[in-house]
Amino acid sequence: MPRDGEPPPPLIAFEGVSKVFGTGLAAVPALNAVDLRIDRGEFVAIMGPSGSGKSTAMNILGCLDTPTSGTYRFMGVDVGRLDRRRRALLRRRYLGFVFQGFNLLARTSAVENVELPLIYRGMAPAERRRLALGALARVGLEGREDHTPGELSGGQQQRVAIARATVTDPAVLLADEPTGNLDTRMSLEIMNLLVRLNREQGITVIMVTHEPDMAAFARRIIRFVDGRIDSDAPSERAA
Ligand SMILES: Nc1ncnc2c1ncn2[C@@H]1O[C@H](COP(=O)(O)OP(=O)(O)OP(=O)(O)O)[C@@H](O)[C@H]1O
Ligand SMILES: [Mg+2]
Repeated sequence: MPRDGEPPPPLIAFEGVSKVFGTGLAAVPALNAVDLRIDRGEFVAIMGPSGSGKSTAMNILGCLDTPTSGTYRFMGVDVGRLDRRRRALLRRRYLGFVFQGFNLLARTSAVENVELPLIYRGMAPAERRRLALGALARVGLEGREDHTPGELSGGQQQRVAIARATVTDPAVLLADEPTGNLDTRMSLEIMNLLVRLNREQGITVIMVTHEPDMAAFARRIIRFVDGRIDSDAPSERAA
């Protein structure tokens, strides 16, 4: 933790982060000495060819995995030194996740899906319901609270997933191809929602996408090639 008068540490800092899967002849290098810093309030798109290390980097960013070598500091904390339990606590407190496949519970209503992370926090039912309804309203799903995922469109399901990821008021939202399963119209809806969460709630957004049209919503675009950062530049929106 920072002492009085010291500037706060960067939100996210990779220092020479490498990741190797497997050992010996079967070893696959996925990330190769990556240096990266992301500050509070940024909206970053991560692009690059299949197999370039994007999801591996996201898993490390999200404290789901740890580097083979190098250091990942989240808010100044060396994540590689934390055990599984402490990494899970960090995730629950500070991070929200959105995936390509929505990952909602099928026979469970929208509002109950959004309440899940609050149940893990041990919040009382009435308070939990109040926050979940608020999160659904913020993603424009008033009136759909009792629908199950099967009764919602793909774009609406992704909005439920975003409500679930943000109901805990996370510092960072990590989205791995959030529009990968959506048509263009729904994709644009989701991107506008992410822009709004970033701007109005100050949530740092880090998103993987293959689509230049979606990356253009970010303010900074990082391109991975062969486990390294090939380019890292402001987007046209930021200019
Ligand atoms: N759990 C794993 N075990 C073994 N190898 C892995 C594992 N996860 C990823 N890899 C390998 O690491 C490299 C990077 O994979 P990664 O999933 O990060 O790529 P990606 O950029 O997300 O690709 P895509 O665009 O296809 O999602 C690839 O060569 C992949 O095969
Ligand atoms: Mg991937």
